[in-house]
Amino acid sequence: MNKLFDNVYEFTHPLIQHKITILRDKNTGTNEFRKVVEELGMLMGFEALADLETVDIEIETPIESCKSPVIAGRKLAIVPILRAGLGLVPGILSLTPSAKVGHIGMYRDEETHEPHEYFCKLPDPISERVILVTDPMLATGGSAIDAINLIKKRGGKRIKMICIIAAPEGVKKFHEAHPDVELYIGHLDRELNKAAYICPGLGDAGDRIFGTK
Ligand code: PRP
Ligand code: URA
Repeated sequence: MNKLFDNVYEFTHPLIQHKITILRDKNTGTNEFRKVVEELGMLMGFEALADLETVDIEIETPIESCKSPVIAGRKLAIVPILRAGLGLVPGILSLTPSAKVGHIGMYRDEETHEPHEYFCKLPDPISERVILVTDPMLATGGSAIDAINLIKKRGGKRIKMICIIAAPEGVKKFHEAHPDVELYIGHLDRELNKAAYICPGLGDAGDRIFGTK
């Protein structure tokens, strides 16, 4: 993993890079795209949750009794940013099936590229959970910054975010707004174009996951 700033990491694992190449290919269809986003949710979520606290419990193996660790506390909230963030959730849930799932609805205005919130429902009490926010794309950073502002306003404290592809402009803005939030990036791309799309990117993640245009 490359450390880009304090709390900002870029994955270097060859399996993650291989899967991102599949997503970038314009010939990858909806079915495969969705499947690979789910797999990346599992691989990236696994790493992002490497510091979850554990507590030892006493159990009986078929041989003897022993102390063995389980995840401590109130566990995890996964919070996808709608719509595209939903694609990463099943892979993370396959690792942590008892996690609670919140949702934040954000869409980017096509002209101004400013994010607009249209939905927010978070598991209660959010303040006691590790919160893993998901969105495949971090472009200008506006949607992610606003989503995390909302979570913090409602009491969220221990926040991490995973995104598959990010633009340097967005990562800088995100880190300035939320230096306390751990950000995990699958690949840091070159730049944004005039329409605020990531280059080379993968196009519109929501449309490619859900088969819309
Ligand atoms: C996309 C993407 C992010 C946002 C990133 O969502 O999934 O949420 O754009 O752009 P930003 O960093 O410049 O804010 P979009 O608004 O297209 O909504 P969708 O997921 O419903 O397609
Ligand atoms: N949202 C996307 O889905 N793709 C981009 O490149 C930028 C924002």
